[in-house]
Formats: sequence, structure tokens, C-alpha cells
Amino acid sequence: MISLFAFGFRVPGSSKPTRLTLTLLTFSALLTSSLRGSERDDWRQKMQPITPLGYVVRHVATAVKIDGKLDDAAWGDAPWTSDFVDIEGNAKPKPRFRTRAKLLWDDTYLYIAADLAEPHVWATLTEHDSVIFRDPDFEVFIDPDGDTHAYSEFEINARNTSWDLLLDKPYQDGGPARNEWEIPELKTAVRVFGTLNKASDTDQGWTVEIALPWSAFAEHARHPGPPTEGEQWRLNFSRVEWQITTSDGTYQKVPDVPEDNWVWSPQGVIDMHRPEMWGVLQFTRLPANRPIAVAPIPAKAARDTLLEIYYAQRDFFKTHERWAATLEELGWPSRVGADRVALTATENGYECRAVRQIGDQRTTWTIRQDRRLSSETELMRLPLPSATPAR
Ligand SMILES: *[C@@H]1O[C@H](CO)[C@@H](O)[C@H](O)[C@H]1NC(C)=O
Ligand SMILES: *[C@@H]1O[C@H](CO)[C@@H](O)[C@H](O)[C@H]1NC(C)=O
Repeated sequence: MISLFAFGFRVPGSSKPTRLTLTLLTFSALLTSSLRGSERDDWRQKMQPITPLGYVVRHVATAVKIDGKLDDAAWGDAPWTSDFVDIEGNAKPKPRFRTRAKLLWDDTYLYIAADLAEPHVWATLTEHDSVIFRDPDFEVFIDPDGDTHAYSEFEINARNTSWDLLLDKPYQDGGPARNEWEIPELKTAVRVFGTLNKASDTDQGWTVEIALPWSAFAEHARHPGPPTEGEQWRLNFSRVEWQITTSDGTYQKVPDVPEDNWVWSPQGVIDMHRPEMWGVLQFTRLPANRPIAVAPIPAKAARDTLLEIYYAQRDFFKTHERWAATLEELGWPSRVGADRVALTATENGYECRAVRQIGDQRTTWTIRQDRRLSSETELMRLPLPSATPAR
């Protein structure tokens, strides 16, 4: 607490006593609300400490056969993701059953394979675009340009019944979900290892193969068509699992027990609709024997500062029914570590920028009241070191 108050004193431009008092008051308000469990607090404690996982997606020359069997030669070269964990992260118990996935791409499709260990494979829904997570399911969330807006959600059950939808924005920011959105040329197949909907025996699990055409993402990616070398997309996988009982040879959900959510890259909170938390895919045409590291999110600390301001603004809005128009009103210094931060009120809310310069690279992150995040990295021309003074 003391360090937070000391932090308040360092606010540039707050030398006037009134502003300083305001800053301290705002900080105490923020502290009080964080004790009550604010969104900013959730961000700081549960989300920000999680580093999104990365996965290098390799290009294949021959199309993957979508038959539910993961026996294509190309899959052999694709690494499994780490085993899925609880959506809230490693602090929660490990999932009861193992889940892993793989990705590949060619010039037409993004390919996804998943392996779900499951002693009791069951599924009831048969209508496309049903609410698939009422059954146990496998889910994919994709934000091609990583701006947290216009992302797609895809769910499939062990009967090969799927649900595809597009969100203009996360539900927290007003959505809506566009259920009429369809993926043209979608290919899916499921293979059950065991018996579907038969409770009297024990199963091994099910595998899924999905081919998502690049054409489905043309409007929401940085450009239409397949990704360019090194391009990054944001994606997360999730698996929903229900507690069940087996009676009369059939499966029944245990009433009033919420579902389990097991994910690839943990979100920190029980909400998949936090695209800023999703994993990072990096596409390459280089062969599998050429090791590649997923490039880190540029100036992530600056981005994280903006997300903290975004969540602090949501807390502010709940109390004041409007957005804070200045950083001071929010109790925020305009310099956080190495980053310069500026907030501007706009017609629809606000826009906040954070700038970080590392060497000759300057990255500017921007966030809006509706969470839309964007970044731009420029190469700055640095003066050449020289013994003679510039003329
Ligand atoms: C699975 O669903 C897809 C539609 O996504 C369909 O084309 C395919 O034939 C189905 N496969 C099986 C085995 O039912
Ligand atoms: C992926 O979703 C899982 C569940 O969302 C979550 O735990 C994880 O944090 C997410 N990862 C990312 C990178 O969002």
C-alpha cells in the first residue's frame, strides 16, 4: 500500500496540491475497490502474470485428409501442444483427462487435430449451430489480426456436430455473437475410440480433425489469403467437460455442477472471451527440422499497462457511469517504467496509447473503451555516433 501511495507522488504534473490530493484520493478509491475484487485487480493478479503460450505452425505441401484419423504423415512432424490445463491456470487442479492439439497449414486451409482422452464418450446434439458446449466439446477461438475484435469461435462434439460463430467484440464489450456466420468449405471429422453414448463400457477417447479455409478469415485478418512468413495470429483451444453419472446404460449430467473448462493457454479467469490472453500462433514455410522460436509480443509491458488501464476504466465506469477523461482522474501516472502513456477522451469513450522505445525500435500500443488493441512498430533513425559535433 505504502509503495502505491509513493507511486502517486511521482505523477508528473501533479505538483499542485489539489491534483495531488485528487490523485491520492483516487488511489485510495482504487485500493478499496481492489479489496472488493475489481476487474483491474483480476487483471493484475490472475491474468497479467500468465504469459500466453506460443506454437509454430508448419506448412505442408499436400492437403491433410480430414477423416478423423491423425495418421497423415504430416501430423507426425507437427508437435503436440502442451497438455491442456484448467482455464484459471496451474493453481487449479489438473484436468482429469488429457487433451492436446496440433496445427498445420497449406495454401488453402489451417488444419487442427485434437486428441481428447475420455473414459465415457457421449454427445447428444445433432443440429449444426446448436449450443454445442451443452455436450462435452472441443473449441477453437481465432483472432487473426490480434486486435481482440472480429474473432471466431468454433465448437464440435463427438458426433461431429459443430457450431461456428463470429464475435464483433467480446461479450464484456457488447458483442454481439453472429450465429449466422458460416465457414464455407469447412471440413470436419471425428473418430471415437470406444462406443458413443454407451455407458456400460469404458472408452479411450475421441480425436477431431478440422480444416478451416483461409477464405473464412479474409475480412478479419491483416490481409486475405494464407499468412505470410512469420505472421502471428492469436488462438486458443478449450475443452468443456461435464460431470456425469451412468445409470441404465446411459449418461446423465450431474445436476447443478458447473462444467469444467480445460484450455491450452490459461486465461486466468473463467472466461474464454478475453482474446488478449490467447496463445500466439506463428506461421512458417520452413521445414520442421529448422527450429524457430515464437517471437514475443512486442513491448508487452506497454500493452499490459494499457490492459490494466482498460480494466481500471471498467471499474471507474461502474462507479461513475462514464469513462475517466484523463489519466489523473484514473489515478494513473503518465510514465510507467519506460513507457509513456497518454489518454484522450473521444466521442465514443477514450483512446489510450503507450509508447516504448527499445534501441531504434519504437512500439506504440493503442487501446479503446471497447478493448480494441493495436500496435505499430517503427524503426527510428538514430543519430550516428560521431566524435565531431553535428553542424
Ligand atoms: C462431419 O461433418 C462434416 C461437416 O462439417 C461433414 O462434411 C462430414 O461428412 C461429417 N463426417 C461424418 C463422418 O459424419
Ligand atoms: C487459452 O484459453 C485457456 C483457457 O482459455 C486459458 O487458460 C488460457 O489462458 C488461454 N490462453 C490464452 C493464451 O488465452
